[in-house]
Amino acid sequence: MKINRKIQTLDEFTIQQMRDFTNATGELAGLLRDIGLAAKRVHVEVNKAGLVDILGDAGTMNVQGEEVKKLDIFANNQFMGVLRHGISCAGIGSEEMDDVEIFNDEISNKSKYVCLFDPLDGSSNIDVNVSIGTIFSIFRRVSELGKPATEEDFLQQGSKQVAAGYVIYGSSTMLVYATKRGVNGFTLDQSIGEFTLSHPDITCPDSGKIYSVNHGNFFQYDEKIQNYITTCQKKTKDNGGPYTQRYIGSMVADVHRNLIKGGIFMYPGTLDKPNGKLRLLYECNPFAYIMEMAGGLATNGTMRILDIQPTEVHQRTPLFIGSKRMMEELNNTK
Ligand code: AHG
Ligand code: MN
Ligand code: MN
Repeated sequence: MKINRKIQTLDEFTIQQMRDFTNATGELAGLLRDIGLAAKRVHVEVNKAGLVDILGDAGTMNVQGEEVKKLDIFANNQFMGVLRHGISCAGIGSEEMDDVEIFNDEISNKSKYVCLFDPLDGSSNIDVNVSIGTIFSIFRRVSELGKPATEEDFLQQGSKQVAAGYVIYGSSTMLVYATKRGVNGFTLDQSIGEFTLSHPDITCPDSGKIYSVNHGNFFQYDEKIQNYITTCQKKTKDNGGPYTQRYIGSMVADVHRNLIKGGIFMYPGTLDKPNGKLRLLYECNPFAYIMEMAGGLATNGTMRILDIQPTEVHQRTPLFIGSKRMMEELNNTK
């Protein structure tokens, strides 16, 4: 892994990258800065968890019938607040909001981009001090500039994303984002309060030894998936193994590790839930974009995630994502 020791902040990096485009207005750099700002606020709160009254359930369910945690709401409010008052975003969609929120004010209506968020991923890990994250997806609007954004702006194929990224609140806090120019990671330097380039040009190793899946659901998966998991378990040093199983239960942490080290992450459909659990627009699309830009692959088992035409904001999809050769091995499994 390449580690950059020269200090370059997120702002400097994105502005420098945008300079190469003559038509760039700096709006995308502004948007990424705003996301970084909200992430720093969430970082501060996550670090105080246990000391202030932020752990536990908010006592409500979200539109998908899942328990909402106080930190889910806090994170949602931070991203919503920063983007509403920034100048680069015309509206947002979020796991924690039933419908998309179109900002519809004079400045926002002129903004080129819309964003989709999983404000806090890995909610079930919040109360037990395990890594959690934020996931984001950015699209250029297809609706007319100067008017309010529309739902159509959010329901674009993942391949149309302009940028996508995640923040991991782990042993350190990192922001990783991808554009068609590549994937770069920034670690929060707490002494200066800046995300600083630490992982330039991230590429996912073509192969790895890690497979990540919820084994508890094994008998709920279809035969092909069961066979692939068994193949992983049977690997020896003579055929690229042995493999190791790692599953944190925070997708951000699981996919981040596999992106850096090489590996495969799977959340298949189950007998009860044929579309699995993960949401296309703010969990699978952004990671599929990041993984492809890093040289890996992402599918729903039959097609490329980035080619799925979304029909609703909260739709779910099975997800298989990771190192190219491991994904090919999965696809070739009968
Ligand atoms: P969220 O906290 O945003 O609802 O997402 C949790 C997701 C994902 O991060 C993780 O990979 C998956 O749920 C774990 O689900 P299981 O416990 O069913 O394996
Ligand atoms: Mn999530
Ligand atoms: Mn979430």
